[in-house]
Amino acid sequence: MALARSIRHVGRTWRSIHTAAALRGGDGQLFVHRDSSVNNPDTPFTFTQDNLKRIEAILANYPEGHKAAAVIPVLDLAQRQHGWLPISAMNNVAELLNISRMRVYEVSTFYTMFNRNPVGKYHIQVCTTTPCMLCGANDIVKTISSKLNIGVGQTTEDNLFTMGEVECLGACVNAPMVQINDNYYEDLTTSDMENILDQLKSGKEPKGGPYNGRFAAEPITGLTTLTTPPTGPGFGIRDDL
Ligand code: FES
Repeated sequence: MALARSIRHVGRTWRSIHTAAALRGGDGQLFVHRDSSVNNPDTPFTFTQDNLKRIEAILANYPEGHKAAAVIPVLDLAQRQHGWLPISAMNNVAELLNISRMRVYEVSTFYTMFNRNPVGKYHIQVCTTTPCMLCGANDIVKTISSKLNIGVGQTTEDNLFTMGEVECLGACVNAPMVQINDNYYEDLTTSDMENILDQLKSGKEPKGGPYNGRFAAEPITGLTTLTTPPTGPGFGIRDDL
């Protein structure tokens, strides 16, 4: 969205200028990078020996001339090692894959899975896309916000929780849902969400998956298809064959 601003020009004339509003991702962070004391090209980052071996194995999956396609798994590895993804780690990945830094920046700014700023020990990503929103995602955001006293894109003072807002996480049938680190928590009510936060605060690991009694994404009222045992071999074949 363009913002129009008027400025006083020398000589009493008025002139309008247009500036683009700063674009922000669902985690409330700027899409562009700004050097800071903790995130700049000199932020210490080198892959561990173990991870360098993992990178070799990852690269072996891609044919010669197409190693650049490994950028997502290698960035993911960098993030898992460091806890988040400083620009120095992105530069390191560009060097390893022999591609320009900009190609790495393009990927890391596109996917919300890459945290380009420090996040808390538990990174809560709330899906607020249409199916989750219709099933109460906004109440889940409000619950987290009031329980932890943080807004979207913010981290608690004890560095335990960060809340982000993301687009569809592919579990719409189990809406509303959140992802916390690598786990999905689905079919949530606000009290389930409070319960999950309480467990995490006390160092426990809450169970992942649906919270309404479902095993997975089957209908809550019971199966509507595949209700009989599967037919055996030869089913539907003519008797004379
Ligand atoms: Fe929330 Fe798809 S809309 S998981």
